[in-house]
Amino acid sequence: NRHLISAGDLSRDDALLVLDTAEELAQIAGRSIKKLPTLRGRTVVNLFFEDSTRTRISFEAAAKRLSADVINFSAKGSSVSKGESLKDTALTLEAMGADGVVIRHNASGAPHRLAGWVRGSVVNAGDGTHEHPTQALLDAFTMRKRLGDLEGRKVTIVGDVLHSRVARSNVLLLDTLGADVTVVAPPTLLPVAIGTWPCSVSYDLDAVLPKSDVIMMLRVQQERMNAAYFPTVREYSRRYGLDAERMAELPDHAIVMHPGPMNRGVEIAAEVADSVRSTIVEQVANGVSARMAVLYLLLGGSEPAIGQEVPQ
Ligand code: CP
Repeated sequence: NRHLISAGDLSRDDALLVLDTAEELAQIAGRSIKKLPTLRGRTVVNLFFEDSTRTRISFEAAAKRLSADVINFSAKGSSVSKGESLKDTALTLEAMGADGVVIRHNASGAPHRLAGWVRGSVVNAGDGTHEHPTQALLDAFTMRKRLGDLEGRKVTIVGDVLHSRVARSNVLLLDTLGADVTVVAPPTLLPVAIGTWPCSVSYDLDAVLPKSDVIMMLRVQQERMNAAYFPTVREYSRRYGLDAERMAELPDHAIVMHPGPMNRGVEIAAEVADSVRSTIVEQVANGVSARMAVLYLLLGGSEPAIGQEVPQ
């Protein structure tokens, strides 16, 4: 694959190659080798039309650790505010010689359009309510590190599935990796097409907790909602929030995940987010390794990157 637009585009072998490469890169970083020469002379453009903390920073860190030149573009403060189109913005960046373009956009499908306009590889860093494939890869990487092989593992994804690109990408990738996924949400926060997703559906969080190896809480995207979706935040939290009492119903080995940013006290209690079962901070750290693997595999070409370590 030249681009990474959807987690569904990855075969099982592709996904395992990314995860194994991320593991290898993480081990190199663990040996205090901060930088690899792999992408020296390549340019990665981070094209962010929507806000981000984790994804933008970790793509920048990943590209720099592979020695790429990085151009960070944020729509705020750019000529997008004067009405410049995505295509013209992309062509401008292309003229500066982008080998890879990492894009986050509020329109579902924007990375797919971009891939038709630029010569470089396009990586989807989150498009509207559609997909966030590198989040799914870093989540799978985190699960594998904590629990081993994902075949047959029971992963429960809870909350605002309707607006969640993280949920869709995770369901697709986890299915490819052989995990058994259940999504739990109020009926108003499930997409109409949920029946076509490769997962089970439940409306009862308490019933699925004892059977879960992983529980992944989703952010309630209040900015995209009105009162029709659920009565009150307090009611949502009572039925679908993860507090300490509910966490105690999980098996001892189970882990608690959240892609961030969190609404503490809404979908997840602060004491759960900060507990030893939480992998939330670990997910952020793993994001750099997973994104290094993606950039290396898409842009590294035939470079014998790994193994050519350059102590800094
Ligand atoms: N998980 C995630 O995509 O976070 P950001 O929006 O901060 O990048």
